[in-house]
Parts: sequence; C-alpha cells; structure tokens
Amino acid sequence: MVKEREKKKIFAKTYGCLMNEYDTERIFSMLKNDFSPVNKETEADVIFINTCSVRDKAEKKLYSYLGNLKKLKSFKPNLIVGVGGCVAQQEGRNLINRSKIVNFVVGTHNISFVPSLIKRIENGDSQNEVVVDYRDEWEELSGEEEIFSKNELTSSFGAFYSPIRALVSIQRGCNKKCAYCVVPYTRGEEVSRCPDEIEREIRIKISKGAKEVLLLGQTVNSYGRKRVSRVTFEDLIRRIDKIEGLERIRFTSPHPAEVRPSFIELFTDVKKLMPQIHLPLQSGSNRILKLMHRNYTVSKYMETVYALKSKIPNIAITSDIIVGFPTETEDDFKNTLEVMKEVLYSSSYSFRYSIRPNTYAFKKYKAEDEVLKEVAKNRLICLQSLQKDLSLQYNNRFIDKKVKVLVEAKDNSSVNNLRGRNKENILVNFKGRNVGIGEVVDVKITSASPHGLKGKVCS
Ligand code: 5AD
Ligand code: SF4
Repeated sequence: MVKEREKKKIFAKTYGCLMNEYDTERIFSMLKNDFSPVNKETEADVIFINTCSVRDKAEKKLYSYLGNLKKLKSFKPNLIVGVGGCVAQQEGRNLINRSKIVNFVVGTHNISFVPSLIKRIENGDSQNEVVVDYRDEWEELSGEEEIFSKNELTSSFGAFYSPIRALVSIQRGCNKKCAYCVVPYTRGEEVSRCPDEIEREIRIKISKGAKEVLLLGQTVNSYGRKRVSRVTFEDLIRRIDKIEGLERIRFTSPHPAEVRPSFIELFTDVKKLMPQIHLPLQSGSNRILKLMHRNYTVSKYMETVYALKSKIPNIAITSDIIVGFPTETEDDFKNTLEVMKEVLYSSSYSFRYSIRPNTYAFKKYKAEDEVLKEVAKNRLICLQSLQKDLSLQYNNRFIDKKVKVLVEAKDNSSVNNLRGRNKENILVNFKGRNVGIGEVVDVKITSASPHGLKGKVCS
C-alpha cells in the first residue's frame, strides 16, 4: 500500500449525466491504491475527462477544455490525459488524431481498463491507447471495498453530489431509440445488472456513510428484461427496501411507456421509496411524441400522473423536455406548456433540440424541417419562465409545514446553516444547532422560492 503523501494525483472533469459521475467515482475507486483525487488540474499527474455527447454543446465543451489543457501539458510533458464517456465511445481514435495531448481513450464499456492503460503509458510501453469495444459482460470491479466514502472525494462533481447519497447503476445502455437520442449508440444495448451486485454495492456504500440510494439507468422500469431473468424492477426495489441502514430510495429515470400498475403501487407499498419521480415528457404534443418515437400519448402519460397523484397527492414530478424538435409548430409547443401546467412539475430540465450523429432524426429531417434557432431559443425561454412559476407554486405548499429533511451539508460560513432535501427531493436551507450530516430532522418551513425552501429545525 502506497503512503497517502506518496500517491500520484488524479484530477477528473465530469460532464453530462449521473452515469458519468458514477463512472468517475468508479475510476477513482479502481485507482485508490496509487492515486488520490485532487481538485486542481495543475496538481495532477493524470487528468481524466468523462465526456457527454447528448447535445452538441456538451461535445464542444470537451474540445475547448482540451484546448485549454495544451498549455499545461507543454509545461508538464509527463501529464497523462485520458478521455472516457460518450464522446470517447463515438470518436475512438479520432480523438487522438484531433487532439495530440490525449494519451488514452476508453469507451463506455471499458472503464476497468483505465489502471492498466495508465501503467502502460507511464512505463513508456505506449504513447496512446484506444479501447472502445462493446462488451457483453457488466464491468463489476473486484475491489468494491476500495470505494471512497464520499467525503474523501474532492473532485469536481455536479449538483447532485452529496456525501450521503450513493449513486448505484442498475442498468446500462438503452433499447428505446428515441429519434433524437444518441445514447443507444454510445452506451449500447440495454443490460441489467445482477441484483446481488447491486445490493452488495449499496451495503458497502451505507457502511461508508450513505443514507440514500439513487438508482441509475436509462429506462429503469424495464429493468430485468435482459440478463437478469425473472427479476423485475418492482422485485428489485422491494429487495433494496429491506437493506438496513438505508433511509431513502430514489431512481432515475423510468420511461413513461413502460409504466405498469405494479410500478405505481411501489409508491404506496415501499416505505423507503420517496414521493418523487422523474418522468421525462419530452413533448406535450402527440404529433411530436410520435415523431420522437416515444411510444406513448399525452393521455397515457397523464393517466400515470393522475394515478400517482391520487395515491400521493404531494408527489414531486419532474421532467425532461425538448423544444424545437424538427417540424415543431407553435401549437405543438403550446400543448407542451399546457401539459406542464396540468402536471404541475416541481422542476424540469429543458433543452433546445440538437442534431446528433447516427440518430433517426439526423437521417430523416432536412434543413427545411428544422425549427429556426431564434424561434427555439424563445420557446425555451418561455418554457423555463413557466417552470419557474410552477416550481414556486409547487414549493409554496410546504410553507408553515413540518418536513423531514435528510441533512447533506453544512455551510462553511456558519455551522448552524444547514442544507438537505425533504422527501420530495426539494432543497431545504435551514438553521439548526447540533445537527449532523446524515441525520433526518424535522424542519418547519418559513419561506419558498422556485429553487427551494427555507426553514428552521423544530425543537
Ligand atoms: N437534443 C436535445 N435534448 C436531448 N436530450 C437527449 N437527446 C437530445 C437532443 N438530441 C435530452 C432529453 C433527455 C435528456 C437527458 O437530454 O430530454 O431526456
Ligand atoms: Fe435516449 Fe430515449 Fe433511451 Fe432515454 S429512452 S436514453 S431519451 S433513447
């Protein structure tokens, strides 16, 4: 075992989705014996970039970041730069041809190769390496014991980063092939992970301080269809509910076309499952939903919403929405706004449509089908402004109420300023004495904004 101060340093830049955050964590775990994470590029011996290609903008960010690293590499010629994630899968060797500072490229099914690739480059056996083959098996890490407790990780994780929330992947890839989406081409076919491994990882993470699990997959409610026969998503959730020490279960994302009555029942039957669901709508127009190959109509989607609300009236429903899909008219867009109001989303992620290579929409639509950039931009602004109103409307219901908050963090400026989330996953900033991270406390809500709630601990 290498002493802490003798360890080499790794910096990771993580773009995109939670799956990438999860993969970055796994890479840190695999390298734990030889590397410690740092939060500055200038201190690093290895820089690993986990990339996203779901929209053009995300992909562009990689190239400008690589451009910025050029200077650092000219001062530090031994710096090793690796690229993983969806752009790596898509581009493979092209990445090395395009940017001379990249030493290795690993695809989405090959992150377990990272330690050996770094060694080969360090030893001078190779200057650059590319591993992007799709593999059938799930990349289980033999050394899960090496998982970091989250407070040990200093790297630049996104908004979801929290020491008490364990990200655990239950499924990889996607079989849906929505017309706009590149994911099936960068993450491959849908494969479910073995339930024993899922449970093992959750138990290890709880032993390291996690209280909540966020299960990850592209269409989690189709879990079990490939690879783990006779175990459904519902079975898996009920099994996870029994894990002692675990307080809260969340998952992202279910697919609206795959919602069954047994799925809805989970929300009333499973004690630890939180009253919150991310149910991506994408569009509120039946015509656009059809062109997107989403396999549901607005009324089928709303059936699910009404069923959930009738069982859990306060349930927080969130969404992903795309504006400006080819041929989208003002009426199609207005339908989307109407659905948003009817659902009353507590929050949503919204995006301007971006043409992605290989997708059905990329092949099918011509320039004249495209929605003008300015029009799409305005639609996005309008949608986001509506969402702000809806979020406030949703959050207002908690004013003067007592809510249960799982404490995630303390403010550096004052130990009595705390942050956490209520059961509905709404951010709560509150004041309280002698409260520790990982505790669940009752908080009386005093005010609400579109971004969250404020309150104080009930004495
Ligand atoms: N353009 C814009 N948004 C997209 N998304 C996926 N592909 C595209 C695209 N080509 C959005 C969808 C998805 C979220 C993760 O990203 O809303 O749910
Ligand atoms: Fe992409 Fe559709 Fe699969 Fe989601 S369900 S990852 S949007 S193809």
